Amino acid sequence: MRIAVTGGAGFIGSAFCRHIMKRDDIEYLVVLDALTYAARLENLESISDDRRFAFVRGDIRIPSDVSDMLSRYRPDVIVNFAAESHVDRSISYPSLFIDTNVKGTGVLLDEALKHGIKRFHQVSTDEVYGDTEIESRRRFREEDPLLPSSPYSASKAAADLLCLSYRRTYGLFVTISRCTNNFGWGQHAEKLIPKTIERSLRKERIPIYGSGENIREWIDAEDHSRAIEWIINNGESGEIYNIGTGLELSNIALVRMILRMTGGSESLIEHTEDRKGHDRRYALDSSKFTRLSGLSLTAEETMKSLERTIELLSCKTSSTSL
Ligand SMILES: NC(=O)c1ccc[n+]([C@@H]2O[C@H](COP(=O)([O-])OP(=O)(O)OC[C@H]3O[C@@H](n4cnc5c(N)ncnc54)[C@H](O)[C@@H]3O)[C@@H](O)[C@H]2O)c1
Repeated sequence: MRIAVTGGAGFIGSAFCRHIMKRDDIEYLVVLDALTYAARLENLESISDDRRFAFVRGDIRIPSDVSDMLSRYRPDVIVNFAAESHVDRSISYPSLFIDTNVKGTGVLLDEALKHGIKRFHQVSTDEVYGDTEIESRRRFREEDPLLPSSPYSASKAAADLLCLSYRRTYGLFVTISRCTNNFGWGQHAEKLIPKTIERSLRKERIPIYGSGENIREWIDAEDHSRAIEWIINNGESGEIYNIGTGLELSNIALVRMILRMTGGSESLIEHTEDRKGHDRRYALDSSKFTRLSGLSLTAEETMKSLERTIELLSCKTSSTSL
């Protein structure tokens, strides 16, 4: 397989690249990434010397950047991770999110068509469904309506719809995965888990929106990568796959867990004004993916991975940045 990964220098894109390069049937993998503030090229160091690997600096919003990469490398598959991904920033700079996440995906789809790409996979999010009441037991299914709350989730929902329209209108082979919150190595320090670890170790205030009762479902970025690997090999065109584990944690419970594991005091927690339009609870029904793929991602195993990840990130943070 010849594969192009857009946004491959980001947190999950790089985890996917490291994962997929373990396969012998990868003829080559090319990463196209604009290297925004969120990119971390060091996340690709372990595979950068592999002769099957190439990196191109380029912007998915610029047709010639995408076209030049596709002409040169002629991949069979595009996996699109490239996005502005932080909800808080989308509230401050919505137009940047529309530009990258909607227009950028549109450019990729156009170029995929022109270059005869065999498969296009769009990495989406559970946030496109909107939220449920905290007490609710509802889990979103793939056919549920899209009711995004933030400019981030609305831009991702728009991108999903564009992908589906390119399948219906032009016959492009398109798959979409909608995944829950990821944890793992190499995530930008603006995100909840790395930020809380760093602040706990530095004994700095840990801001938490409102009461912190908002619930998120969590997955290891490694497991997300395995799920996408299955989809690009077995997924069917036009299909959407929810990817979750059932591990639901409120933000405050997660912060307390990190404080316990890093020796931080709960007095560091500072409840701040709630995020605008803050989603209360996300939860996915991932039974379609589990049934078809046979990959079972359980809450118990995910909790163990989360604990291991917090331990490892704490050691790394202590040794590098304190
Ligand atoms: N982080 C999560 O928990 C989560 C959950 C579900 C889905 N997702 C989705 O997964 C994808 C990856 O998320 P992440 O957390 O790794 O994001 P990230 O912010 O860590 O990485 C995004 C990458 O995209 C690149 N990029 C941004 N704009 C670009 C452009 N115009 N052209 C080319 N490259 C560009 C950045 O340089 C960066 O390397 C996103 O599409 C996101 O919506 C993330």
